[in-house]
Amino acid sequence: MITKNLQNAINSQINAELWSAYLYLAMSLDAERKALKGISNWFWVQWLEEQDHARIFQKYLNDRDAQVILEPIKGVPTEWNTPIQMFKETLKHEQEVTAMINNIVKLAREQGDNETLSRLQWFIDEQIEEEANARDMIATLELLADSGSGIYMFDRELAERKYQKATPLLEK
Ligand code: FEO
Repeated sequence: MITKNLQNAINSQINAELWSAYLYLAMSLDAERKALKGISNWFWVQWLEEQDHARIFQKYLNDRDAQVILEPIKGVPTEWNTPIQMFKETLKHEQEVTAMINNIVKLAREQGDNETLSRLQWFIDEQIEEEANARDMIATLELLADSGSGIYMFDRELAERKYQKATPLLEK
């Protein structure tokens, strides 16, 4: 049986993943409104992926005979001045999510909960990718800062990103 404080931590994580989804949906909509279709697509994929992250934890709690508690999701900003501002906020937010995941890892280790540790491994790897992606986008946008057509090319490239269901959700 998964302990109560681990259940609480995972329920908080579900809320954080849904808040992340909400944040990226807002970024996608803001970019769409400004005709940045590729950036809008990139954040749209991000919004779908975050819902997968929440789903993985929801399923995990149900599989362990624990209860999912859906708390209210806080509001998110609606507008960003520039694409680089969006990606800088993304990086900062993902670093906070990484810290939350690491806290759950610490808790699971202290309680000798190997099942939870096993489930968390996917998230540890995912967070490395999430932070690296945001860092790459910031670096590219900084390089393009002096190029008039750069943002157009950047936006076109991001239009190629496709959603793929998170692997733990393909398991069964
Ligand atoms: Fe679910 Fe972007 O962390």
